[in-house]
Parts: sequence; structure tokens; C-alpha cells
Amino acid sequence: MTTLKPVISEIWDQERSWKLETYKKNHGYEALEKAWSYNEGELTQLMKDAGLAGRGGAGFPTGLKWSFLPAPDGGPRYLVVNADESEPGTCKDIPALMANPHDLIEGMAICLLAVGGHHGFVYLRGEVVHVYRRLMAAVREAKEAGLIGKGVGPKGNYDLDITVHAGAGAYICGEETALLDSLEGLRGQPRLKPPFPAAEGLYARPTVINNVETISSVPGIVRNGKEWFQDMGTESANGHGFFSLSGHVTKPGQYEAPLGITGRELLEYAGGIRSGHELKFWAVGGSSAPLFTPEHLDVPLDYNSVKQAGSMLATRALMMFDETVSVVRVISRWTDFYQHESCGKCTPCREGTFWMRQIMHRLEEGKGQPGDVDLLYEIAGNIQGRSFCALGDAAATPIKSGIELFRGEFEAGYTTPARELFPHEKSTLF
Ligand code: NAI
Ligand code: SF4
Repeated sequence: MTTLKPVISEIWDQERSWKLETYKKNHGYEALEKAWSYNEGELTQLMKDAGLAGRGGAGFPTGLKWSFLPAPDGGPRYLVVNADESEPGTCKDIPALMANPHDLIEGMAICLLAVGGHHGFVYLRGEVVHVYRRLMAAVREAKEAGLIGKGVGPKGNYDLDITVHAGAGAYICGEETALLDSLEGLRGQPRLKPPFPAAEGLYARPTVINNVETISSVPGIVRNGKEWFQDMGTESANGHGFFSLSGHVTKPGQYEAPLGITGRELLEYAGGIRSGHELKFWAVGGSSAPLFTPEHLDVPLDYNSVKQAGSMLATRALMMFDETVSVVRVISRWTDFYQHESCGKCTPCREGTFWMRQIMHRLEEGKGQPGDVDLLYEIAGNIQGRSFCALGDAAATPIKSGIELFRGEFEAGYTTPARELFPHEKSTLF
């Protein structure tokens, strides 16, 4: 049985874990102290050697991303932390920011040193005002302690500034280039890539964009060394990560563990599926990845293994659904979400999500028309690979996967409403 590995969450249970005093008592800011002595390029190389991959969902190698920044030209270079966590079922960054904001601040300071930057931004989703306040208070604490701010470091000559920005609550602003537009005060819509943000990001300057968990993992690596990180996980995926368990599990929550832990092991830690019921299907990486069934419970949850098994590790948001749940109703709610969040820039997603939503609602209500399931599958297939950004693909993926796994349930929607097929679901999930 794989042992859980609390790293970012190690101090969450301590009293006032979010305070600088608590963080420092637990080796906080020792990594930054150490980082000041690194020569140019060494911190980036350390991230490469450790094998840290982006924890926002894409799993892109972090050190490689940092190394993509062009050589300094005397102008500004930025770090932007993506804290616009919005993927359905994904709820790891918000608790991390509430319980341990200094971990992120320390990681940001180290990343800025690594890339020769002086200004970092945190783009936080707009709805979480309490997190905004907590983060602002932590930045203030770090500034007052002289850890960041003007003229810090052993020579007192390095400026490290952090700005916390709250968005207005749009899923698309988690897409990195839409996030940049939003941060610049524009309407949040994806930009054409390339150029990638590493070359032309915020205010058209070289910019590193990383997720909260990615940057919060940096201090641990600097403090404990690359071997410590390499020793966790699998051959293809090093380190620790959050697995967010929700749905019909006995103890939902954040489980920080080495990558490669299985769904079965995580379920065991979470007390199993609620008593008297059994697992029907589950989402492994939020709502944007193909669904898994009980037969996938022993797949090691690392990038390659999950891909080989036909899904995506993505945000490691495990949503577990028992036999009382209609897969049509679940996917219908997700389709509502994607249709609502589509930014409207490109036709396949803007129109396609609307069409898919109409058909999903018909099937959910038992008013499906002959051929609807095939039509739905075809529309989803036409959106995939033809949208401007990943949101279109994300909307189409669970629909295709749901039909492939549970076609009979979709076809039942020609005659019978989902609430009649699954009468006990309403009171338990929605
Ligand atoms: P991506 O694979 O297109 O890019 C990953 C990162 O690598 C980006 O920062 C990109 O700029 C960089 N990159 C890739 N190729 C590059 C190159 N040649 N040069 C320089 N930089 C390069 O993935 P993307 O669109 O950034 O993220 C998609 C993932 O986000 C999905 O898999 C999903 O899991 C996740 N996601 C997470 C959400 C959340 O709430 N945490 C919400 C929605 C999606
Ligand atoms: Fe906007 Fe959807 Fe097109 Fe992305 S895929 S640009 S969210 S309309």
C-alpha cells in the first residue's frame, strides 16, 4: 500500500498554519535562504533534475518551461501563478492557499530568482474573497519580515514584489493566455500560440506561468534536494501531488501522495464508497478527461499510465459516483458548465456546446429524438481538435466517453427521464 506523503499539506493541521510564525517553525523560508547562493541557471537545472512537472493539469516539465525564457535584455520578466482553479471537482489550490500561503510565496520568490525576475502575480479566481484576504495578509507578513519587497537578499539589492489579483470568475481565465489578457485588463479570451508566454507573456514580456501547486512544490525541492523528490512517484512521474476525492466516498478531501498511487489505494484512505453502495464510474482528472470505471482502480495515477489506460491525469480530481447516479445527468451538468463558460471566440465551441447541451437536456428529460445519441457523438467528435483552445475538447470528451461506456443509459433517454431511472440520486448528489 502506497503511503500518503503530506508535503505542502504537512502543516495544515497545526494551529494558525497560515501564519509566518508557524511556517518558519516548520523550516519555512529556509529554501529561499539557500536559493540566494545559487548561481545563474542552477535553480532551473535543479527543477529539471528533480523532474517536477506542472501540477495545473498539463504536466509540462517545470524546469524546461523556466529555461524557455529568452536571455535577459534588461527589460522585465514576470512570474504569473495560475490560481484560477475552476475545473469541476478540482479543489486543491484553494485549501493550499488558505492553509499554507507562505509555501507559495516562498516558491514564487525562488522562481523569480531562478529566472531573473522581480515581479510575480497571483491570478486568483474571483469568487474566493476569503482566500484573497488570506493571501494578501501573507504577502504583507513576508514583506514586513523583509523576506520579499524592495532591496532584499543577502546583499540587500534585489527587488521581489508580489501582486495578488482577483479575477471575475470565468473558467476560461484559467487558460494561460486568457488569464494574461484578463490580468492586463482586457476581456479574458485565449491568444494564439505561439508565441508562448515564455517568449511573449504578460505585457508582451517573457513570463513563466505555473499553477499554485507547482510553485508550492519548489521550496521542498530546494530544501530537501532532487533525490528526495526523485525517490517519490514512478519512473515517469516524480514527486508528490494532491488527489482531490469527492462524490460518494466516505471521507472526501485532499490526499497528498506520491504520484503513481492507485485509485483503489486512495479509496481505501477515503474510507471507501459510502456504506451499502458500490462504485459505478469515476472521473480521474476532473470533468475534462475520459471517465474511468471500477476496472481502472489499479491503474497507477501517473501521467503515462493514465494515458495508456485511455484517460488523462490532468488535475487529479477524482469524482466517485455510485450506482444510484445517472451518468446522463452528471454529464448534462458538466455540459451546462462548459456551455456557460465557453468564451464564444470560436464557432465549434460556441455553437457546439450549445447544441450538445440541448441534446443532453432532451435525453435527461426522456424526450430524446431518434438518432440523438449518434448526433451527439458526432457533434462532440467535430468539436474535438477543431476548437481554438482546450475548452472545446474538454466539453466534448466526457460526452464521447459517457456514450462509449454507457450507451444504453443515453438511449434510455428516448423514452424515460433520468430521474425515473435513478430515483434515489436526487437526494444524494444534487
Ligand atoms: P499545454 O499542454 O498546451 O501547455 C502546457 C504548458 O507548457 C503551457 O504553460 C505552455 O505555455 C507551455 N508550453 C507548451 N509547449 C511550449 C513550447 N513549445 N514553448 C514554450 N512553452 C510551451 O496545456 P494547457 O492548455 O496550458 O493546460 C491544459 C490543462 O489544464 C488540461 O490538461 C487540464 O487538466 C488543465 N486545466 C486545469 C484547470 C484547473 O482548474 N486547474 C482548469 C482547466 C484545465
Ligand atoms: Fe473560447 Fe471555447 Fe473557442 Fe476556447 S474553444 S476559444 S473557450 S469558444
